[in-house]
Amino acid sequence: MKIRLVAASEKSKPELLVALAYAGPNPDLGGAYSAFVKKAKSTGDLSTDTRATSIFYSHDAKSAKRVVFCGMGKRADVTTETLRRAVAVIQKKAEALKVKKFRLSVQADDHEGLDAEVAGRVIAEGLILGAYQYEKPTGTKRKKRHGQHAEVLYRGKDAKGFKAGLNLGRIGAEATTFARDIENMPGNLATPTFLAAEARRLKAPGLTVKVLDEVAMKRLKMGALLGVSRGSKEPAKLMLMDYKPPGYKKTVCIVGKGLTFDTGGISIKPSAKMDEMRYDMCGGGAVLGLFHAIRDGGMKGARGKVRVVGLVPSSENMPGSQAQRPGDVVTACDGTTIEVLNTDAEGRLILADALAYAKKSYKPDWMIDLATLTGAVVVALGHEMAGVMGTDDDLIDDLIEAGQLADEPLWQLPLWDLHRDQIKGKFADVNNLNSAAHGNGCTSGGAFLSFFTKGVKWAHIDIAGAAWGARAKDYYTGGATGTAVRTLLQWVRGL
Ligand code: BES
Ligand code: ZN
Ligand code: ZN
Repeated sequence: MKIRLVAASEKSKPELLVALAYAGPNPDLGGAYSAFVKKAKSTGDLSTDTRATSIFYSHDAKSAKRVVFCGMGKRADVTTETLRRAVAVIQKKAEALKVKKFRLSVQADDHEGLDAEVAGRVIAEGLILGAYQYEKPTGTKRKKRHGQHAEVLYRGKDAKGFKAGLNLGRIGAEATTFARDIENMPGNLATPTFLAAEARRLKAPGLTVKVLDEVAMKRLKMGALLGVSRGSKEPAKLMLMDYKPPGYKKTVCIVGKGLTFDTGGISIKPSAKMDEMRYDMCGGGAVLGLFHAIRDGGMKGARGKVRVVGLVPSSENMPGSQAQRPGDVVTACDGTTIEVLNTDAEGRLILADALAYAKKSYKPDWMIDLATLTGAVVVALGHEMAGVMGTDDDLIDDLIEAGQLADEPLWQLPLWDLHRDQIKGKFADVNNLNSAAHGNGCTSGGAFLSFFTKGVKWAHIDIAGAAWGARAKDYYTGGATGTAVRTLLQWVRGL
């Protein structure tokens, strides 16, 4: 999807003109269209119901041949989510109408209550995410896609803000589709080596990418990450992406679970839906997506000068004669010993080494991690939000606020000392899970991770529900959601 902002004075005639139709006064599409809009409205066929589209044909030589309206309901009820969805509906309609290019006409007062910059961002997100399709590997020729060029014509106040928003929205949405593409790939194609190659492609001036291999991990004594990888032929990788603006004052480390396929290992999972464990790298996908956005200029106009370091520990979790056993004791790179009571609680093991390494190597002011860590968070919160917990309430509040701006809700869960006590070990410092009798499956994952982040402001986001399986919402139709890329971008821009 290509987006081009055109001036309000644009004279050329679009193939298809699209506008948002609110209950109340007629949409203003400019002089040439006023009589036409009046007529369309007077028939009662122009629906202002949310997401309803109405198509009209104009015979005036100066106007577009086809005009489509997408209903928005009442102006006062508009939200970022309704606007994003309406724009995605428009993109899909343009594609169905097989037009090469369409023009979306937007007025400043269309989106009462949202400032121009927010509206611009959300419109770009609706267009790009609405157009997203995973291109599966196929033996047949791919059909040409229509409706892939949008012109956006903006009329009204703060055109500068709208333009900046449109650009930021484009950067965040393209980064999200980049993440969705990698996340939707099956485990045999999206291996740790493949993820490392994708990470390397994100190199840019001011953004370095380094990949640690198993030899380096052995040298660094990353016994927890290497323990998970033991059962697999695919070598583990640890991606390090480092955005370092000159004169930076603060450092943030963002760690994403990049488990490319989770069979459970020796504590093997049931067969049903095991294919979905391709998505077990979506935390890593979100971090790679964030760096895609940063590479494309996502930090321009950010509040502070912050060094952003992304770490993606990546491995497969397979059973086999070399695989680690339940009851094995491994040692993380900070010396903490771990009893692996269940080899399926592997995400926290690979994150433990990455978090401990991040803490020691970069001395961050804040550290966060994202992971498809527990089935328990899906039971607790479903697929429309992620769980967040940690050791710093201000950090958690900021993440929740960023999630609201992106319409990727986060819900805080507790993490107390009693939860940490529940995983203290008998045969090692910590166990990789608590006893089933305690419950709190999601929190025990967070409690485990907190042993490796001591002394740093840290939060853990469990995206096991949000990463895939959400309800369809026009700008998401199935498969990986690409969740958290836009939230992370909002958050790091605000630091
Ligand atoms: N990748 C899974 C978590 C998961 C399960 C995500 C189902 C989405 C859907 C993780 O590695 C895992 O298996 N966690 C275990 C932890 C348990 C053994 C303590 C779980 O949630 O069952
Ligand atoms: Zn697992
Ligand atoms: Zn897993």
